[in-house]
Amino acid sequence: VTTSVDTRPIAGALGAELTGVRLSPDLPDEEVARIRAAILAHKLVVVRGQDHLDDRAHAGFVRRLGPLTTAHPTITGGQEEAAILPVDSERGNRANSWHTDVTFVDRPPAFTTLRALVLPPFGGDTVFANTAAAYAGLPEGLKTLVDGLWAEHSNDYDYATAHATTGPEGRTEEYQQEFTATIYKTHHPVVRVHPETGERTLVLGHFITKFLGYNGVDSRTLFDLLQSHVTRLENTVRWRWAPGDIALWDNRATQHYAVADYGDLPRTMHRVTVAGDVPVSVDG
Ligand code: SIN
Repeated sequence: VTTSVDTRPIAGALGAELTGVRLSPDLPDEEVARIRAAILAHKLVVVRGQDHLDDRAHAGFVRRLGPLTTAHPTITGGQEEAAILPVDSERGNRANSWHTDVTFVDRPPAFTTLRALVLPPFGGDTVFANTAAAYAGLPEGLKTLVDGLWAEHSNDYDYATAHATTGPEGRTEEYQQEFTATIYKTHHPVVRVHPETGERTLVLGHFITKFLGYNGVDSRTLFDLLQSHVTRLENTVRWRWAPGDIALWDNRATQHYAVADYGDLPRTMHRVTVAGDVPVSVDG
């Protein structure tokens, strides 16, 4: 058991590397509390050298942060550990567009964790953005507009037209069919009050199909304007993975983008998510 958990910020807007910890399902409560606090404070923490974790231990540790979700609302989880979602480039799961995980359900995950198993020799980084800082940096008029705005999120968004320049490439038809086997459409406020930190964060990303009360053209224009505040480079951090790395992020205060710049090379990550709440708007 180690007791020297330390965090080192890796960028100005979000992200810290956590050292002095060997993650496991039976860490002492104080150590789990420190890790949880670090995730809330930095929004993303990465721990290197966790090669000792298998799927069971990964899920077992994450369960200490809160109750787990199923692997995914529509995609079947791992064979050994049902809470594991394999994010596998060879199944066409590349996640290369900006999103917050699973916003198409009424209670999107609170935390996401991602463990690197197979990595290409180059590329395949993940970029993260801070959606609280993005909100805080909006001009006052835009804040007023988005404070009262709601959006529809769906897993059946149109890759071809909705986000044409950034849509996931190479998603196999089989995977796409599984992904949309049940179609979800959920309304969320565009600004949510974070249930633990009290910060206001933007709830956007690629699952948005439209803003309520706006037509398709205006929705797209407004979406691009707001997303540009989220994805400004100063508001991001880019993580270069090594095998054995595990990233843990606050899914209520971030977006991420897995850069698909490694051609047909394999890249496999295992994901486990912690259950979250229904997003609450600034009006309660
Ligand atoms: C995800 O979107 O959950 C996966 C991100 C990644 O593969 O880096």
